[in-house]
Amino acid sequence: MYRTHTCGELNIKNVGQTVTLSGWVQRTRKLGGMTFVDLRDRYGITQLAFNSDENEALSTEATKLGREFVISIEGEVIERSSKNKKMPTGEIEIKIEKLTVLNQAKVPPFTIEDDTDGGEEIRMKYRYLDLRRNPLQENMRLRHKLTLETRNFLDSREFLDMETPYLIKSTPEGARDFVVPSRMNPGEFYALPQSPQTFKQLLMISGYDRYFQIVRCFRDEDLRADRQPEFTQIDCEMAFVDREDILNTFEGLAKHLFKKLKNVELPEFPRMKYVDAIKNYGSDKPDTRFGMEFQYLTELTKGKDFKIFEEAETVIGIVAKGCASYSRKELDKLIDFVKRPQVGALGLVWVKFNEDGSVKSSVDKFYSQEDLKAWGALDNAQPGDLMLVMSGELAKTQNAMNVLRLEMGDRLGLRDGGFSPLWVVDFPLLEWDEESGRYHAMHHPFTSPIPADMDKLATDPKNVFADAYDMVINGVELGGGSIRIHDKTIQSQMFDALGFTKEEAEAQFGFLLNAFEYGAPPHGGIAFGLDRIAAVISGQESIRDFIAFPKNNSGRDVMIDSPSPIDETQLDELTLQVVKTEQED
Ligand code: AMO
Repeated sequence: MYRTHTCGELNIKNVGQTVTLSGWVQRTRKLGGMTFVDLRDRYGITQLAFNSDENEALSTEATKLGREFVISIEGEVIERSSKNKKMPTGEIEIKIEKLTVLNQAKVPPFTIEDDTDGGEEIRMKYRYLDLRRNPLQENMRLRHKLTLETRNFLDSREFLDMETPYLIKSTPEGARDFVVPSRMNPGEFYALPQSPQTFKQLLMISGYDRYFQIVRCFRDEDLRADRQPEFTQIDCEMAFVDREDILNTFEGLAKHLFKKLKNVELPEFPRMKYVDAIKNYGSDKPDTRFGMEFQYLTELTKGKDFKIFEEAETVIGIVAKGCASYSRKELDKLIDFVKRPQVGALGLVWVKFNEDGSVKSSVDKFYSQEDLKAWGALDNAQPGDLMLVMSGELAKTQNAMNVLRLEMGDRLGLRDGGFSPLWVVDFPLLEWDEESGRYHAMHHPFTSPIPADMDKLATDPKNVFADAYDMVINGVELGGGSIRIHDKTIQSQMFDALGFTKEEAEAQFGFLLNAFEYGAPPHGGIAFGLDRIAAVISGQESIRDFIAFPKNNSGRDVMIDSPSPIDETQLDELTLQVVKTEQED
């Protein structure tokens, strides 16, 4: 009754057919006695033609159609006189015989066009209208294909799709939990899973040796372009495997997805040790689409009375190709950039390797041409290149340099397009947490040490490396996982290293420690951020537009206005009380 075809499928071969279409009015235009209406649905746009000479009443009705009215039409497919070869339906139009307005629409608060005039906030409030736009529709289709191809690939390799509960107890993945009060157990709370980590390990103990789940995870953490409070993982676990088996399987998954979705053949994934990633790029997720690796100038810069370098723990330089022509103003802007609190550098030294072979720097008073040339030689700086140098405490300088390197990569167009995958491996097992003043598991507490460091866990845990790995593409951590501990004694040693008392470990993870005593196979796994894969495949930074109904940066859904207070009765039932601080009053 509503449609014989969609708005994206009619073409010259259908000329002469009588069709029924339904959809939304994209726009209406009047040209002499003709009124043209673009009718849109998610498949495309079809032009409707109303001729006032042939049917004046119908034509007048057409001129009254507003944007986004929902209509249904019947008519004959005819060849257009002026064709639009760019559109799949551009060679035909529909000569209208019947028009039904199914529903009127208010004027939308922004245009439903690829380049809309709506700002971020208003589009979030009217997300259902934003989702009508092509770019978002393409993203949703891509996401659909991504989950479909993930299922195809994993199914063909015997992975079973299994569900795990959402109302659980806290899993220690490093973020805060979202909690849900239990009405039937007053004063007690469920936590929403930050990941199904412990459940998937229990499934291995149950004998389901290849598990996967496309699963929502919840983390109460600070939000950024690549982080949402609820996001989707492709969560996987395998038993009777070592690290190689896992890396090969999931490198296979990534290659399959990029091939099917983008027709891109990813190269073999190189492996990079965590320590090398930090040393050369200052990041455990380096964008390896370009070089600009760190050069350590610490030794070369000493003994020349330049106090800042003299006192610095480390001095690091990078070479930006072809940037010697930067003006004073551009260099000052870069200096301001690194001094912003987000980067936190105290300053920036520059060295220009001029086209004529001379060298000019901001520290000429302290260093000779030969000194500066020796710095450049470390990364084979050529005439025309610019070296940028920062110094200070090691980790801070590496951090700041990472930000500067990515900024220079952006400026030089080295981060546009292409895919550069790698595995980062051998993370430290533990990391020091300043805030709590104790060691935390860098990945999570179930991660096994690398085999060579197993004996050190009890005696020297802070120097133990983890059998953990991250998949990184274009500077984005797409997934991470590890070989797990499957032995109760080792797991207890790990809890000791993390500062848990026996009682605490038992109370929080007794179920897992017990399960390890009933035949736990060696196992390991990985989880990918599905939203991130979608964004990276599409060459975008923000995951928000790959989620139909995302939260804004303050974790709010501005469309449904959530979170929101609940009423007294609900609070009473849950034995909860809202205590207002003075400020709020
Ligand atoms: P991890 O915490 O590294 O590992 O998470 C796995 C992947 O999930 C994605 N991700 C996110 N995506 C969007 N928004 C977020 N807030 C967010 N947090 C994480 C990332 C990340 O690589 N249980 C372990 C996995 C395992 O060991 O098997 C885990 O969750 O792409």
